[in-house]
Amino acid sequence: MTVVVTGANGLLGAVTVREWRDRGYEVVALTRAELDVTDGPRVADVIGRFSPSAVINCTAYNRVDDAEKEPSSALAVNAWAVRSLARAAAAAGAVFVHYSTDFVFDGEADRPYTEDDAPNPQSHYAMSKLIGEWMAAPAGPAAHVGPAELERANYILRVESLFGGAASRSTIDTMLQNFAAGRTVRAFRDRTVSPSHVADVARATCDLLERKAPGGIYHCVNTGMATWLEIAERLREWSGHPMATIEPVLTTDVALKARRPRFCALSNAKLLATGITMPTWQEALRWHVAS
Ligand SMILES: NC(=O)c1ccc[n+]([C@@H]2O[C@H](COP(=O)([O-])OP(=O)(O)OC[C@H]3O[C@@H](n4cnc5c(N)ncnc54)[C@H](OP(=O)(O)O)[C@@H]3O)[C@@H](O)[C@H]2O)c1
Repeated sequence: MTVVVTGANGLLGAVTVREWRDRGYEVVALTRAELDVTDGPRVADVIGRFSPSAVINCTAYNRVDDAEKEPSSALAVNAWAVRSLARAAAAAGAVFVHYSTDFVFDGEADRPYTEDDAPNPQSHYAMSKLIGEWMAAPAGPAAHVGPAELERANYILRVESLFGGAASRSTIDTMLQNFAAGRTVRAFRDRTVSPSHVADVARATCDLLERKAPGGIYHCVNTGMATWLEIAERLREWSGHPMATIEPVLTTDVALKARRPRFCALSNAKLLATGITMPTWQEALRWHVAS
C-alpha cells in the first residue's frame, strides 16, 4: 500500500514519512522540488501516477505575519493547493489527510476549543487555513465510499505550536537554543496553547487511518494547556539551565503584523474517543528535551 506525503521536508512532513515507513508502508515522499502543490494539473498527474491509498498533505505557507501583505501566496498553498490535492486523492480513491491550526479560532474562549466550536479567524493566514479546511472536506457522499486497506475519508487535523523532529525550527527549539547560549528568553504570559509534538501527531494520524476512524475534523494536540511562560519555565528547568533569564511579555508588548489568538488550547477529547491517547504536553516536552 502506497502513502504519498507532500511537504516531506517540513517539520511534520519528515517525521510523517518516517512514521509510515516504520510501520511498513511504501512511502512516496514529495518535497517542493518534486511537486509544487500550487501547480494544480501537475498535482493531479503526480498523485494519479502513484495510485496511493492515502495522501497526507504536510505543506503549508506558515509565515503568519508575511501573509498580511501577501495573502494570495498564503491562499495558494493553504487553500487552493489543498483543493487540488483533495480532488487528486478522491480521483485515486485515496484517503486525504490535511493539517490545520488553532489560529482558525479567535482566542476569546475560556475553555479548550472543541471541533464543534465556530471558527473566527483573525488574520489572513488564519483565514487561508480555514478555507483550506473547507477545501479538504469531502466533495460529496461518494468520497466516503471505497476502500481497500483504509476507509476512504478525509481527515482534517488541527495542530498547534509544533515541536520535535530533527528540524529544530520550532519556537520551543529556539527557546532551548537561547537557554543554552545564555540569552534571555521572552515568553508570552497571556497566550495559552496546547503544544503538539510532531511524533505524537504523526503517530495519531497513522492510528486514525489504521483504525478506519470516521473522517472529519480532529484536534490533534498533546493533552493539556499552558501559557508560553509556563512552557519556558519547564524548558529552563528540564534543560538544566535554572539560572537562565525569562522575560514575561504580553502580546500587546510585541508589535506583530498579524493578530494572535490569546487563548488557543484545543481539546483532544474527540481523538481520545476513537481510542487514541495523546501524551500530556509535559511528557512530550520532557521527552523532547531528553532526546
Ligand atoms: N509549525 C506550527 O507550529 C504549526 C502550527 C499550527 C498548524 N501547523 C500546520 O501543520 C502543518 C505542518 O506544518 P510544519 O510546521 O511542518 O510546516 P513547515 O515545517 O513550514 O513545512 C511546510 C513544508 O511545505 C513545503 N511547501 C511550502 N510551499 C510549498 C509548495 N508550493 N509546494 C510544495 N511544498 C511546499 C515547504 O517546503 P520548503 O521547505 O521548500 O519551503 C515545507 O517543507 C501545516 O499544515 C501547518 O499549517 C503548524
